[in-house]
Amino acid sequence: MKNNNIYWHHGIVNRKHREKSKGHRSCCLWFTGLSGSGKSTTACHFEEYLHRNGVHSYLLDGDNIRHGLNKDLGFSPEDRCENIRRIGETAKLFVDAGVVVLASFISPYIKDRQAVRQLFCEGDFIEIHVSCALDVCEQRDPKGLYKKARSGEISNFTGISAPYEAPVSAEIIIDTGVSSLEENVVQIVSYLQQNNYLHM
Ligand code: ADX
Repeated sequence: MKNNNIYWHHGIVNRKHREKSKGHRSCCLWFTGLSGSGKSTTACHFEEYLHRNGVHSYLLDGDNIRHGLNKDLGFSPEDRCENIRRIGETAKLFVDAGVVVLASFISPYIKDRQAVRQLFCEGDFIEIHVSCALDVCEQRDPKGLYKKARSGEISNFTGISAPYEAPVSAEIIIDTGVSSLEENVVQIVSYLQQNNYLHM
């Protein structure tokens, strides 16, 4: 802590008021998985479903956030930790704003994801493991990055030269190598419906 002389200021309008005016709960859905596993594609289509159904949502995506907020960070374990920490704090603000926030980041380390979970109250953080075999992700290679990682052009590449620690107790697991995009979106929607997230 660099500054001790700071105090929390409570506003007049709070999260409950914002959720009430939107007609649904807010929460954070955290998509974790290998590059090319389908995190962003799934999150994008899920966001479209939410939007169509009047749910105020916002998608935070790894590549996009690294163009701005986190453009000073690379892919060392320390930089990834700071990347995820900042996103976690940002997601927390969105949840306070009454928004359903979707966060799509490789977030390869269990301890970093656990630290984000701990920023939230019970039930506000939903971890979605976008599971997909490495060889399938590598075959897809949508950005040509696995090829570069194999040739050594990119170092610290998740799954090749850097680790991916799969979640042990994610709320939702989808396997994009096995089930279709539509099935995966339905699975996430069902979880939210069964757990009363989509209504007040
Ligand atoms: S994280 O590990 O810190 O969570 P993040 O999700 O923000 O990663 O960014 C991942 C994206 O950065 C990948 O989808 C890929 O396009 C790109 N990228 C560039 N270099 C690497 C690398 N060394 N490892 C993984 N992804 C990389």
